[in-house]
Amino acid sequence: MTSARILIVENVRSTAADLQLRLERLDYVVVGTAESSEEAIAKIGELNPDIILMNIKLREAGDGIKTGELIHAGYKTPIIYLTSSAAQETIHRARSSGPFGYIFLPPNDHQIFATIETAITRNQLENQLEQNRNWLSGILNSIGDGVIALNSQGQIYFINSVAQELTGWDQADAAGQYIYTVLRLFDEKTHQMLEIPGVENVGGGKKLSKSTETFLISKDGIAMPVETNINLIKNSRGNTTGIVLALRDVTQDRKVLKEIELQAQRAKILEQSASRLNTDLDMKSVLTRICSVTNDALNAYATAVFLYDNEIESESEIGVDDPREGSKSIKASSLSFPRSVIESLITNENPIHIVNDVSKVDYLPDPGLFQDKKMSAMAIAGIYRQQQLIGIVVSVFSESRGALEEGELKLFKGLIDQAANSVTNASLFKQIKLGRERHRRLAKSLVDVQEAERRRIAGELHDHFGQLLTGLQFMLETVKSQAGDVLKPSLNDIQESVRDVIEQVREMSLNLRPSMLDDMGLVPTLQWHFGRFTRQTGILVNFHCDEVLNRFRAEIETAAYRIIQEALTNVARYAQVKNVFVGLAIQHETLWVEVVDKGKGFDTSAILERPTSGLGGMRERAELAGGYLVVRSVLNQGTQVIAALPMNENRLERRKNARKGIISG
Ligand SMILES: Nc1ncnc2c1ncn2[C@@H]1O[C@H](COP(=O)(O)OP(=O)(O)O)[C@@H](O)[C@H]1O
Ligand SMILES: [Mg+2]
Repeated sequence: MTSARILIVENVRSTAADLQLRLERLDYVVVGTAESSEEAIAKIGELNPDIILMNIKLREAGDGIKTGELIHAGYKTPIIYLTSSAAQETIHRARSSGPFGYIFLPPNDHQIFATIETAITRNQLENQLEQNRNWLSGILNSIGDGVIALNSQGQIYFINSVAQELTGWDQADAAGQYIYTVLRLFDEKTHQMLEIPGVENVGGGKKLSKSTETFLISKDGIAMPVETNINLIKNSRGNTTGIVLALRDVTQDRKVLKEIELQAQRAKILEQSASRLNTDLDMKSVLTRICSVTNDALNAYATAVFLYDNEIESESEIGVDDPREGSKSIKASSLSFPRSVIESLITNENPIHIVNDVSKVDYLPDPGLFQDKKMSAMAIAGIYRQQQLIGIVVSVFSESRGALEEGELKLFKGLIDQAANSVTNASLFKQIKLGRERHRRLAKSLVDVQEAERRRIAGELHDHFGQLLTGLQFMLETVKSQAGDVLKPSLNDIQESVRDVIEQVREMSLNLRPSMLDDMGLVPTLQWHFGRFTRQTGILVNFHCDEVLNRFRAEIETAAYRIIQEALTNVARYAQVKNVFVGLAIQHETLWVEVVDKGKGFDTSAILERPTSGLGGMRERAELAGGYLVVRSVLNQGTQVIAALPMNENRLERRKNARKGIISG
């Protein structure tokens, strides 16, 4: 270790010389001596001593203590005062210059050595401490969080640069201030001022904690959300001696969080609107739904949908969701956005047009939607199908609503994409429905024509040919009575043949359409038919009809008759049975027809794959009459054919658990 370098400041030369001698004997280096304050300060600058030994009373240059204060402030070189008396008052005064010790005159070597060594050690420790302090404040100033350190009385002794920025107080102003003056924290929910744990309090308020949503108000009155962290500094006895408070401005975090929340909310709106829009296929309700979904999602004042495509709607329908009047459909004629104008404003790629001030555009119609003075902005979004503009969604916004944000525009875009889908679905559904209806009407008229034709031919056969043949029969009878015996057997044969032909013509006529069906109704015709059926096939018909059935609509009677006729033909052909059950019953305004056999049965799924004339025809008959047909069959157990035919003009809904059997059970 190198020896300490010492400057002696003493105006009494003999004392200075004596000191120098002693110091050098103790192995210290005396770098110089000064007799006055000015000289001392000049030499410190020049020689940079480790320690200064200075008389507490410099005779000429005023006061040693004053000089000491100057040195202390300027150089921080440790000073040891030389004093002749242990005058308490003088020593007391010297405190302000941060003395490192006192040597009493006349000195002795032990005292000099002890005092200088203590001063050197103390100086080293203080330097280290200073360095540590510099390090700490360097670290605290470089971190992103605000840090404020207080003593247990709540006085601030350190505030880093971030905390200075957040609070608006700089270190110099904040140091020594009571924490609540500088750091004003409030509960975000209650707006109550928050107290800091460990600090004497302002009065029974809520204590700050990590979980409290907190905002800070700076010196300039700026509020910002912050996150806080508190550390109590305890001494070895466990008493709190200080508090370190960390603060973080979370404005940006909040913004990000809010953006994430908004995105999630938008995704949810889109998902919900998808399910709201896709549940309906009826054009009118789809349009109304598009309006209400858009209104909800964009917080619009009112929304309307206009469709251009004539294929979709002969008279374009507009759905309107207006909070004043509720959702409704109005006719396009009362509002119109000329397609040419709209197409000059938007494209498939850029389908949204925003009008910030509706009063400034000239193409607007004069609908009630805009009459309200408070309407300011409007958004027009095109509904495109295969690059073709098929309609628009128009939302109007009240002044208080504010402009649509980027995210809301994206949401709008998503909504109109969905709108395009559901409008397309609804129009396809409508076309299919129309097509189906057309097909039904065609089939029905075909059946009607067929029945009428059969009726006509049957009548013709019966009346015309029947009478002709009967006339022929009479003529033969006359000829026979006049003819000789030779011709008689031949005439008998001819008569027999004519009778056969008459019978066959009658059969043909009946098969085509028994006139009974028109004249007497379903039940008598069926009973007559069963008699014929049994005679021809040997199969007994067990007919059950649970009440005296009156006449039905002609359409139903024909359908029921044809279905039973065809079902019985199948029984005779395939079932291999001796008996068949036929039932008629009325229930729920429905005529139930049932034909059941306990015969061979068949695989209905296999039959369904190939269209067959019999069962297919039966089904068509039932459906054209507004009802439906159910065929159940189990191999080697039997077959059941059930037709449900509506007594009135309404169509029947197929019942999930169609009756198991009317009477057959
Ligand atoms: N009652 C029945 N018992 C057994 N098989 C039947 C019965 N009804 C229909 N089938 C079966 O269903 C098939 C389809 O009947 P259908 O549509 O009337 O056509 P087709 O009589 O011209 O064959 C028949 O070929 C037969 O195999
Ligand atoms: Mg058949």
